[in-house]
Order: sequence, then structure tokens, then C-alpha cells
Amino acid sequence: MIPLSLPDPSDEARRHSDVLTAHILKDIQDAGGTIPFSRFMELALYAPGLGYYSAGSTKFGPAGDFVTAPELGPLFARCMAQAGVRVASKLNEAWDWVELGGGSGAMAEHALRHLHELGRLPDRYLILEPSADLRARQQERLKARLPADLFARLGWLDGVPEHPWRGVLFANEVLDALPITRFQVRDGQVWEECVRWNENRFERFERPAIDMLTRAVRAIEKARNAAFPAGYRSEVLLQLPWWLKAVTASLERGLALFVDYGYNRREYYLADRRDGTLICHYRHRAHNQPFHWPGLTDISSFVDFSHVAESAHLAGLDLAGYCSQANFLLANGLEQELTNSSLDERATRVRNEEVRKLTLPGEMGERFKVMGLQRGVDASSLFAFGDMSARL
Ligand SMILES: C[S@@+](CC[C@H](N)C(=O)[O-])C[C@H]1O[C@@H](n2cnc3c(N)ncnc32)[C@H](O)[C@@H]1O
Repeated sequence: MIPLSLPDPSDEARRHSDVLTAHILKDIQDAGGTIPFSRFMELALYAPGLGYYSAGSTKFGPAGDFVTAPELGPLFARCMAQAGVRVASKLNEAWDWVELGGGSGAMAEHALRHLHELGRLPDRYLILEPSADLRARQQERLKARLPADLFARLGWLDGVPEHPWRGVLFANEVLDALPITRFQVRDGQVWEECVRWNENRFERFERPAIDMLTRAVRAIEKARNAAFPAGYRSEVLLQLPWWLKAVTASLERGLALFVDYGYNRREYYLADRRDGTLICHYRHRAHNQPFHWPGLTDISSFVDFSHVAESAHLAGLDLAGYCSQANFLLANGLEQELTNSSLDERATRVRNEEVRKLTLPGEMGERFKVMGLQRGVDASSLFAFGDMSARL
């Protein structure tokens, strides 16, 4: 799946992509000729100063490559803030908000403003952003747009929170951006997809899977009650249990909310989905060619939410709920937002368009899911509409 007409990058962008390509090539040579696809994805997205998220281009919004829910307008963040306040009211004590992967800073801006309006500001709104470039952009935007007292609540983390804390951990479209392992099943064996350099370009290449990957794939086959058909290709996020445990380890009481495109395991590994769920974005065109313009192309994959729920259990978290984004927003304040009659005609049109994009099944409403993982608090009422936990 590659669109016929991908716009050409500028000369400067091409040069940037060439530098990253040389960097990845050196990594391949140092590794003896091949690297796992997950390593390729890690470098393509996060190589310091060069990767898609680490370097300086605009990624989010109309001028970038894709639009995320907080970029559409304030509604998504306002509903998430309302959900956060419901959790905070159960905690009955000082609380913090920790956002993973802050993107352009839009989520923090709108969430903080609304938390202020609701009179329930967290003590601290902390952002864990691995990309130095995005962190600088977030700081610049939030300093320029927020009143000083709100900006003063913000802080940036260099790693996962170390000290015990209470509150809300929030991540929109972060799980889909974690480097994923790709596999293929053929000849009764599991193969890992790797990347090598051949005739001046990257190409994929399979090698027999390491034990850990083979075991993970066989466990998926067991869960779906059927072996994968010959030639089946897909992905698995091998590091998820450790990653989730690390990011939630110091959350003493509260809720972790993950929003992303994804399915339960049965849907994720449907026999017909023979080429997996990898999806790349370049200037608002979606395709599945991860080697296309390294550093200029976003690479992501859908999330297996059954795997997230299992990993949560191993990390000592309970499942609070799992539903579509549309249902979560409706259960957490979207209807009240719609009754806001202080908007003029134009602003009402803009708001309605935002609601459509956030909730319609053909837009983000059904493809995106929200999963809540709780510790020491009962947040199941946030999933009052259409909880699909039983289908995980
Ligand atoms: C698709 S963007 C989403 C950005 C933002 N949440 C939004 O919705 O607009 C993915 C974000 O996740 C960040 N990210 C990647 N790996 C991460 C990790 N291990 N911990 C925290 N953030 C991470 C990226 O740097 C980037 O900001």
C-alpha cells in the first residue's frame, strides 16, 4: 500500500534523510549486516537529533504528517481533564498529572486550562517527552500561551517518575509509537523480520526468531485457538510488560489512561490481516512502507489491547475499563460541551466538526480505544458507556 503520489521532500529534508540513512547503515554494519525491524524503527523515530521525533520538522497538525486528537481543538483534552477530576475526587488528596509523549503541547495546554476552570488543578502537570526537540517546542508553546501561574505547574521529566505519586498518567498515541517486533510464520517456524542494506536501499529479510519471540507468537496462536496461516506476517510489542511496569511503578494510587488505535487480540490477529498493522504517515498520506524517506516518515502500529491488559496485571494494576474513544468522551463530558451555547455560529460549526472527527466511526470514534488501568482507586465509572473489557 503506497499512495501513487507522495509529495517530494525539499532538498534540505532529503539531505536530512540521507544523514539518518547513513547513521542506520552504520548501525547495521556494526551489527554484522542485519538489525531487527524494531531496532530500525527505534533509530528511524528516535536516533538523537536525527530520528522522526527527535529532529526539528513539524509533525502534528495540518502542516505536518498527521493530526492527533488533541490537535483537533480543545474538546478531547477537556473531556480527559473531566475524567481526571473524577479520579482526583476519589483520591481526596493532592494529585499530579503525568503525560507521556506530550506532542506539540496541545493536550497540556487545553487540559490545564480546563482543570483550572473546574477548580481542580493538579499540584504538578509533568510531561515525559523523550524527544529533546519536542520538549523544546512544548516549552515554547506553553510558555507563550498559558498564564504564568498555570505554566508554573508544568515540569518536564527526564525519565519515569521515581518518587511515589498519586493521580493520572495519560498517554495519547504513545503505545503505537513504541518500536515493535515484526514476525512471519512459514514452514511451521517463526521468523523475525530484520533489515539489511542491499543495492543502495534498505530491504527486509527474515531470520529464525529468538526463543522469546517464538514463545510470544505461539502464545498468541494458543489464545486465538488456531495456528497462523502460512506466510502470515504481523507484529508483537515484546517489551510492553517491562515498559508498562516501569512507567507505572511509582504510581501509588490513581489511573493510567492509554488512548490509541487498536483492537483486542482476536481482532488484531484476524486470519485476513495477513500483513500486520504497521502504518506509516507522510504529509497526511498513510502507507505501509517503513523504509520510505527515513526520518521524514512516521512509523507506527496498532495496539493489541488484550496484551496491554495482561501486562497491566503483571505490573500490579487492575483494569478499570476499555471502550471506544467515542463512548469514553460521551461518558466524560462531551454532551455538556455540546450544550455550550455561548459560541457564535462560526465557532459552533468548528466545534461540531471537531466532535464529528473525534466520535464518528469512520473517523477516530471507533478505531481509537481508551483503556484505564487503576491502582488503589475505583475508576470504572469513567467507562459507563460501552465497556468492552469482557471482549479482551
Ligand atoms: C504519535 S506522537 C503523539 C503525541 C501526543 N501525545 C499527541 O497525541 O499529539 C508519539 C509521542 O510519544 C512520544 N514517545 C515515544 N516513546 C515514548 C516513551 N517511551 N515514553 C514517553 N513518550 C514517548 C514521542 O516522542 C511523541 O511525542
